[in-house]
Amino acid sequence: MTALARLFRTTAFKLSAAYFLLFSVGAVLALGGVGGRVEAVLDDQIGQNIDAEIHRLEELYGEGGLGQIFLSVQRRVRSPGGSIFLVTTYAGQNIVGNIASSPAISAEEGVLLETTYRLPGDNDRDHPALARLTYLPGGFRLLVGHDVADHRVLRQILHRGLGASLFWLALIGTLGGLLVAHRMLERVDDLSASARRIMAGRLDERLPVSGAGDELDRLAENLNAMLARIGQLMRGLSEVSDNIAHDLRTPLTRLRNRAEAATRDGATPEEQRAALGAVIEDSEDLIRIFNALLMIARAEAGQAGGAMSTVEVDEIVADIVELYEAVAEEQGARLTSSIEPGLEMSGNRELLAQALGNVVDNALKYGAAGSDGEVGVAARRNGDRLEISVADRGPGVPPEDRERALERFVRLDSSRSLPGSGLGLALAAAIARLHQGSLRLEDNAPGLRVVFSLPVTRTPVAAPGSDRT
Ligand SMILES: Nc1ncnc2c1ncn2[C@@H]1O[C@H](COP(=O)(O)OP(=O)(O)OP(=O)(O)O)[C@@H](O)[C@H]1O
Ligand SMILES: [Mg+2]
Repeated sequence: MTALARLFRTTAFKLSAAYFLLFSVGAVLALGGVGGRVEAVLDDQIGQNIDAEIHRLEELYGEGGLGQIFLSVQRRVRSPGGSIFLVTTYAGQNIVGNIASSPAISAEEGVLLETTYRLPGDNDRDHPALARLTYLPGGFRLLVGHDVADHRVLRQILHRGLGASLFWLALIGTLGGLLVAHRMLERVDDLSASARRIMAGRLDERLPVSGAGDELDRLAENLNAMLARIGQLMRGLSEVSDNIAHDLRTPLTRLRNRAEAATRDGATPEEQRAALGAVIEDSEDLIRIFNALLMIARAEAGQAGGAMSTVEVDEIVADIVELYEAVAEEQGARLTSSIEPGLEMSGNRELLAQALGNVVDNALKYGAAGSDGEVGVAARRNGDRLEISVADRGPGVPPEDRERALERFVRLDSSRSLPGSGLGLALAAAIARLHQGSLRLEDNAPGLRVVFSLPVTRTPVAAPGSDRT
């Protein structure tokens, strides 16, 4: 397709063409209408003058016959004002007048005619005129009219003006349309070129935004936001896979070594059985880590939020407390709870239970390990947010480690002796973020208090501010 053909096919050019057609029709109607009206008014005026003249001449004829008319016409000929007169016999012989001839002399009586006339001594040139014929008593024909050369010139000027303005309109319209189309096409080509480079692997490049704030800019901005979001998700994914590659190497190597030891020559059946048991345990750990990582990745990608519904938070908290009461009892700790009834929010029940479970698990593991420590779970409404806190009286987490402890695979030195993979808090924080909430670690003096702060209503991402109840 040639460049020009591409221009002609753009929406911008088609719109200009459509506007040109509309304007042309409008111009023809407007200018044609005005011209027509002007002509009609002028012709009307001439008609009235002719009538008055005829009336006067008829009166003169009544008073003094042809002689009077002759005198009057003679007078008028000396002061020509565009009026024409001709009196002939019935047979058509000129008697008196200021013109040589006119076809209207043999026309129908009383009708205002658009006709021509010739001047005496200049028999080659026709002049335009409006004229009316009457019969005088005695069978004489009286033709009275008015030269309309001026009006015809006016009509020509109007027609030429209309033609010229249509011509310029067409020219400017076409050039303007092509120019606009060209600019549009240039920008669309720029966008396409950027898109191709991005597809070819330059993922950090963005579509150009001209700054004009027009629809193409809005489109480019939205696509750029989409690219940024995709980039963010991809970085998150590659981070997860890096983490998996890095952090699963150790447990996988350990698993492999144990399996190898079990198949070693000279291992007793008991040793083999013990090794196999350890292998199974290690694999279960690995499966747990995989699941947690997948859940975090999904929560961060916002995918797990698909099953959001109204959930009774007080019930979830009570269930978790009940679930962990037995564990607490086993290790001689106490799990107490203070739950405000009727707490509701929009969220995912399973994920919220998982997040709270992880935190309670930590409190029992680190905060109340081997002691008769106490873990308090509280849930209450605070304005338009729900706050769920889990507090223990253990060693706590120093302020400088509180941010870090929420990251994947981070385990503080003080707790290396206890089992765990450092994913519990990362998953809880990801779930809180998925619900547009947050997770923070506070000093319980002594001990640690972990607080979920969740909005009662999830603001819909697509339409901010709508549907607020
Ligand atoms: N209640 C707590 N008291 C003291 N330290 C804590 C407490 N909760 C968490 N921590 C510290 O934060 C780290 C991260 O906790 P997180 O739950 O993410 O991992 P984990 O408990 O080690 O492993 P996982 O939960 O995956 O089994 C823990 O290793 C521990 O050092
Ligand atoms: Mg944990």
